[in-house]
Amino acid sequence: MTALVGIVGGGQLARMTAQAATRLGLKVAVFAPEPLAPAFETAQVVFRAEYDDETMLKRFAKRCDVVTCEFENVPASALTTIEAHTKLCPSAAVFACAQDRIREKTLFAECSVPSVAWQAVSSLEELTRAIEKLELPVVLKRAHGGYDGKGQREIVEQGQVEEAWKEVAAGKTEQRAIVEKKAILASEFSLIAARKERGECVLFPPSENMHEDGILRESRVPAKLTASRLARAQHWTRALTEKLDVVGLLAVEFFLTREGEVLANEMAPRPHNSGHWTLDAAPTSQFEQLLRALLDWPLAATEPVLPARMVNLLGDSWRDYRKFLQDPDAVLHLYAKRETRKGRKMGHVTFRAFPKKHDNSDEKGEHRP
Ligand SMILES: Nc1ncnc2c1ncn2[C@@H]1O[C@H](COP(=O)(O)OP(=O)(O)OP(=O)(O)O)[C@@H](O)[C@H]1O
Ligand SMILES: [Mg+2]
Repeated sequence: MTALVGIVGGGQLARMTAQAATRLGLKVAVFAPEPLAPAFETAQVVFRAEYDDETMLKRFAKRCDVVTCEFENVPASALTTIEAHTKLCPSAAVFACAQDRIREKTLFAECSVPSVAWQAVSSLEELTRAIEKLELPVVLKRAHGGYDGKGQREIVEQGQVEEAWKEVAAGKTEQRAIVEKKAILASEFSLIAARKERGECVLFPPSENMHEDGILRESRVPAKLTASRLARAQHWTRALTEKLDVVGLLAVEFFLTREGEVLANEMAPRPHNSGHWTLDAAPTSQFEQLLRALLDWPLAATEPVLPARMVNLLGDSWRDYRKFLQDPDAVLHLYAKRETRKGRKMGHVTFRAFPKKHDNSDEKGEHRP
């Protein structure tokens, strides 16, 4: 019988996972509250309900052979219900850790994974004291619920402290926040691991990520990274997947500071925007690896890869999509979101650099699209 894979969340990550599943002859059930979720049209079974609808969650879980989530902020109660009725991968415990920046950074420390200096704060007084220790500039982030740079504020001078606290935490039901030393970045990169139940684990090559206003704009492969820095980041990524006993994917975002330090920023137990290039420039995509891990199929090779550049189409920029259709190196992906909003991820394009005749430059690692 064909396996039915459940996905909680109906955005582009669920959509692309469902597309990969269809190619493999699998069926997908998507659970999401939005009436026109982008993943509904690529799923064979649709559960449209709120994340606190226990009856529907139970029905969904009972129907699926295995369930995963496309975003980490799925309410804990929903995850508990699902886990009581079917296999949830990664486990609810992994999501609980990834959705709380304080628990996440604590885990990094437990696994000896370096990150920026930080402190947990739950009042303006605590924030003020933490800043005395960390020294400005810092970044104040809500412990729970932020994404794409939302729920965070940079504090450069003393005069901004109170306003930042008000914006990020005061008045919110939960006042837990984390204040981090602002790192001076040379670059950012990420690693995506796929891991199976008995510990088999593969990593995709790192991608170098460019952010603007806290949103990922572009990812590039190969990342410019020395072998020893990459080896350390790979070691830490494996250590985190082991410690969390991840079945599925774990993406880890890293900072490379101007001083040459590699620091873990955050992690996500799901497909990651910085891995979208794998659809068009790797032997297997992150979405297929996720399915293979969930179903206990053999994991696939992650190399060799083509040099590639993935560009997010944010807001209105997707409307210009026709220009990419004439470029033989470009692969266009549109998410069919009904509403275009500023900064919203509407699609992406991957530009691949195929080897040119008599061109050995990529063998030297110099070729960039
Ligand atoms: N402590 C820091 N020092 C320097 N830059 C930072 C720091 N924290 C965040 N940033 C910048 O802001 C970006 C977004 O931060 P972070 O990854 O914590 O937030 P997010 O809302 O979870 O983002 P996303 O969902 O896009 O990953 C980072 O990729 C980095 O460019
Ligand atoms: Mg991030």
